[in-house]
Amino acid sequence: MEEERIVSGETQREEEKWAELSLRPQRLSQYIGQQTVKDNLTVFIEAAKMREECLDHVLLYGPPGLGKTTLAMIISNEMNVNLRTTAGPAIERPGDLAAILTALEPGDVLFIDEIHRLNRAVEEVLYPAMEDFCLDIVIGKGPSARSVRLDLPPFTLVGATTRAGMLSAPLRDRFGVVSRLEFYTQEDLTEIVSRTADVMEVNIDKKASQEIARRSRGTPRIANRLLRRVRDFAQVRGNGEVTFQLASEALVLLQVDKEGLDHIDHKLLIGLIEKFRGGPVGLDTIAATIGEESHTIEDVYEPYLLQIGFLQRTPRGRMVTNRVYNHFNLEVPDY
Ligand code: ADE
Repeated sequence: MEEERIVSGETQREEEKWAELSLRPQRLSQYIGQQTVKDNLTVFIEAAKMREECLDHVLLYGPPGLGKTTLAMIISNEMNVNLRTTAGPAIERPGDLAAILTALEPGDVLFIDEIHRLNRAVEEVLYPAMEDFCLDIVIGKGPSARSVRLDLPPFTLVGATTRAGMLSAPLRDRFGVVSRLEFYTQEDLTEIVSRTADVMEVNIDKKASQEIARRSRGTPRIANRLLRRVRDFAQVRGNGEVTFQLASEALVLLQVDKEGLDHIDHKLLIGLIEKFRGGPVGLDTIAATIGEESHTIEDVYEPYLLQIGFLQRTPRGRMVTNRVYNHFNLEVPDY
């Protein structure tokens, strides 16, 4: 089966990336949900524009698929500046970052995805760039080495991470705005599905949008992906219109259950019950048992399972809750 789960921006499939890019809202007024983040950004953007300054550096963090890249694009649109995009693992040497920074135009937004994956040497170049808009470059080697200071145009760094805890304190402290993205409510996701369907010129009824939203783990990227797959079913098996009946049938075939859980979530939860009496068990042990990377479980699968109260983190490891037994129609054990 084709791998469809998204671990990071890097592993997201190309087709999906392009489809998503064209569906993304371009302005804050089109962006649904994340009200607190939106309200704050609206004020900060307006204030920066009134002062004719660039926006302070922004750190966006939270689980994958909640709209961090979209917000970076929106910030650049609202500020009427260019957006330059890169990712932590793509910047290997200080010189790579220097090349990016010196090519910026005044006011530009530089978006660094997975910013927690920058290495130490690169991070050190970033500090004076963020703080004083300058680069300290060392020319030559040994006793004749000297440091030259290069001025940069003022810019806004928008950093995105799924792991705010993995950012070094000096880097975190240099962001003037730190915003956490939350899982979306059913209502917001329903609105997002309807909006996306509109953009894609697909006819969908409200109940179908609600059903897709309900099974999308609070995540717009998943909602939009499910919508595209359901649209395929509607085109081939129906008359192109997405009804509740058709969406429900398609979602069963897509192996997405009533809570939005897929076969990997099932493997994780059932594995915990069958092999470890429901836990507690360490993350690495779970990862080895189900053949997934620990950081993938931690970044992609676990946050939603914690959010819906299916999983608990204890000092001794992860544990399933009684809800999981109920979900799978299993008897709750009394040990
Ligand atoms: N598409 C994906 N995320 C969205 C959001 N937050 N608002 C509107 N459309 C979206």
